[in-house]
Amino acid sequence: MLKIAIIGCGRITEVMYLPEFASIPDVSVTALADTNTKNLNRLGNFYGIKGRYRDYREMLATEDVDAVCVCTPNYLHAKMTVESCRAGRHVLVEKPVATSIAEVKRMKAAAKEAGVFIMVEQTHRFVPANERAREVIRSGLLGKVIGFRARVGSGDPRNWSPAGKWFFKKEQAFGGALADIGIHIIDTVRWVSGKEIARVQAFTAKIAVKGTVEDNAALTVETTDGCVGTIEASWTQSPGYFGYQIFCEKGMLENVTGKGLRGVLSDPPGEMTFDVPTKSVHQSAFRYFADCVMKDEKPFVDINEGGRSLAVVIAAYRSAATGRVMAVKF
Ligand SMILES: NC(=O)c1ccc[n+]([C@@H]2O[C@H](COP(=O)([O-])OP(=O)(O)OC[C@H]3O[C@@H](n4cnc5c(N)ncnc54)[C@H](O)[C@@H]3O)[C@@H](O)[C@H]2O)c1
Repeated sequence: MLKIAIIGCGRITEVMYLPEFASIPDVSVTALADTNTKNLNRLGNFYGIKGRYRDYREMLATEDVDAVCVCTPNYLHAKMTVESCRAGRHVLVEKPVATSIAEVKRMKAAAKEAGVFIMVEQTHRFVPANERAREVIRSGLLGKVIGFRARVGSGDPRNWSPAGKWFFKKEQAFGGALADIGIHIIDTVRWVSGKEIARVQAFTAKIAVKGTVEDNAALTVETTDGCVGTIEASWTQSPGYFGYQIFCEKGMLENVTGKGLRGVLSDPPGEMTFDVPTKSVHQSAFRYFADCVMKDEKPFVDINEGGRSLAVVIAAYRSAATGRVMAVKF
């Protein structure tokens, strides 16, 4: 039986982690930590989890678990991951992986020293339509990728976690719509297109949100091989939207959630739709993480992958603040 501990008993733990892990027969969540006793006991009681701690350090020192999930506000990801690695546990950490590249380096060093791995919960790499889109691009059917256009939008986090006031505080969240949901579309476009983003020109806006973070961001980006693209993230869009177009030499691939995966060929002109399986090839991020721990295999969505997507977000914030084109440094 694989034993897992979770730090942070908020919305994501309630909606994703606990139900997902509970559905995997050979996995058990045996300990929880949260400074908020109400959250801790509510989820602990519902799932019958006995190990409950207000101090995650005490949990790390006491509980005999194989892995730790870090599901706390963004500014806590790095230090909780580092301490979990030092306690000899593999880690699944929420996105954004950290709030700076210096933190990512510390996390990498701690994992290396302890001989454990860090997986980053970039959920969209486990969405079947994205897996299929990546397969289509890699097959060469549409030719080489020459650019992309991508957007993610949703209501702001009050709709998701009404108690999560930290989402709107820069010192705890590190960013708004771009750091929160923009990182998903950045990571997806990087992964599906196979392109790395080298330079960013960005604008951010604060239209409706109260707090110290942006609720909209628009990026023009250049890839390492000289292609260009655009990426947008919005907390003021409702209903939600997650979609991208990958432009290729022989046509275009479009994936918009709820509308399927569509290809458009330029010569001769034509359209095609691609079948999308109902389940991820890995079943889910949680099943995949558990498998990696059990087989002691490094995950493909690791600290470097989370770090590279974070580096694009950081470059975008610097660009928005300075008005200059910024290099992505990782
Ligand atoms: N992958 C995804 O699609 C996705 C979706 C939503 C949220 N997230 C991420 O998950 C993380 C948590 O988000 P959420 O929506 O669950 O937030 P939330 O505010 O609902 O929950 C955060 C929890 O962390 C607890 N906490 C705060 N400080 C703590 C500490 N020092 N020790 C232990 N617990 C502490 C809080 O009491 C709260 O219960 C964030 O990083 C967020 O970006 C990811």
